[in-house]
Amino acid sequence: MSTPHDLHVVILAAGKGTRMKSALPKVLHPLAGRPLIEHVLRTVDQLNVASTVLVVGHGGDEVRSALEGRPDLQFVVQSPQLGTGHALLQAEPLLKGKKGTVLLLYADVPLLEPGTLSRLIETHRSSRAAMTVLTAELDDPYGYGRIVRDATGAITRIVEQRDASAAHQAIHEINSGIYTLSLTSLFDHLQGLATDNAQSEYYLTDLVSMYRHKELRVETLCLDSADELRGVNSRVDLAELSVVMRQRKNRSLMVAGVTLEDPGTTYVDMDVTIGPDSVLGPGVRLQGTTTIGDRCHIHAGARLTNAVVDDDVVVLDYSIIVDSQIGAGASVGPMAHIRPDSVVGPKARVGNFVELKKTTLGHGSKANHLAYIGDATVGDGVNLGAGTITCNYDGEKKHKTTIEDGVFIGSDSQLIAPVTIGRDAYVGAGSTITHNVPAGALAIGRGKQVNKDGWATKRAAAKAAAKGQK
Ligand code: UD1
Ligand code: CA
Repeated sequence: MSTPHDLHVVILAAGKGTRMKSALPKVLHPLAGRPLIEHVLRTVDQLNVASTVLVVGHGGDEVRSALEGRPDLQFVVQSPQLGTGHALLQAEPLLKGKKGTVLLLYADVPLLEPGTLSRLIETHRSSRAAMTVLTAELDDPYGYGRIVRDATGAITRIVEQRDASAAHQAIHEINSGIYTLSLTSLFDHLQGLATDNAQSEYYLTDLVSMYRHKELRVETLCLDSADELRGVNSRVDLAELSVVMRQRKNRSLMVAGVTLEDPGTTYVDMDVTIGPDSVLGPGVRLQGTTTIGDRCHIHAGARLTNAVVDDDVVVLDYSIIVDSQIGAGASVGPMAHIRPDSVVGPKARVGNFVELKKTTLGHGSKANHLAYIGDATVGDGVNLGAGTITCNYDGEKKHKTTIEDGVFIGSDSQLIAPVTIGRDAYVGAGSTITHNVPAGALAIGRGKQVNKDGWATKRAAAKAAAKGQK
């Protein structure tokens, strides 16, 4: 059942986005780790809405499949794209007969905050307006529609840049393109729009003069700052808005108790969470759904993507962790590479130039230097010496290595998978292990050493004699 206070959101996303020069639809370009459209949808999530419609055109199928995880979202296709008024009209079949208010948003305006939209809705409802326009004063209003007011200060019309006279161009109050509109006879009015303008389009902005002529109430809400209203038309805009978004995220982290040694070079995606008293060094990138516990220290240049990091973890400089978990009190790096599906246990240590892939490292186990451990299950309290390599790939298939609790693998050993090293066993340094090692055993798999007494001395003497003859 719809009530006069129901809020229906319509988001326009049909434009071509020509200036992005991209095969990817503009609204799917990521900004701080989320597609542009997702920023707008997250803002809408914080309002109490009855329905949300996305108007798609160019790349519509791709946009739709990217948003499959939102079953409540409705889609309409606008083809061809004949202007913003025409775009809103496409939502008519979904909103026909409904009461309440339409909130019109653009999918390429990602910085808008829910509080601003709540103010717009409140202004609209308390003034019982048919339409309320969100506006702002800009030092440089070029390119935007201008807000034209009468002697009483009431809005009379919106004039587009391309249709603006010199007098209109001197107006600094701009149209954000974001409105609330009463659903009562909205679509009848949209049907009445004409295309007698410079772009021969159906301008949604023409509703303002139409409503004024019909003595319907049109309100405005003017923002002090236009920052939130900035849209993305090009990759230059994308970069500039990313900076703003990143500053917001960094600020919220610092307010929540996280130290950022150099906020200007710290890149944290919107969905990342970090516990208090954690420290991020310069040039750190935290991406996707990464979560970091309390009191962690992520040093310079590290990149973590979809990582789950428990409390008191140290990640040293220039390490990479992807789709993996790091247990409490563990230490990783410098320059370690933790590849997908790895689990580094509590208090474990993964040192410099160590690569893990699909590997579980147990409690307190260590791989401190120059190792490759792939497709392996390593128990608790294991020591993997410098240069340990799991030979997990035979050219066709990957094979598993199992290293049980308490094992000691001497430096520069190769473990040819599939192979199991039993509990508390030792592997002598420089071994090539091709067979399972029983629990408690010592395995040595290397050529026997031979010493030839006096060999080097004799060789040196022979060389010296040859030189003397010349
Ligand atoms: C529009 C406003 C202008 C305002 C500006 C703010 C009109 C006529 N003008 O201008 O007053 O200052 O926004 O940014 O409304 N879109 C569609 N279908 C279409 C046309 C556009 O879905 O047929 C979508 C675009 O994808 C975009 C949004 O509507 O998200 C705005 O379109 P755009 O062409 O950028 O509008 P402007 O001409 O800049
Ligand atoms: Ca625009």
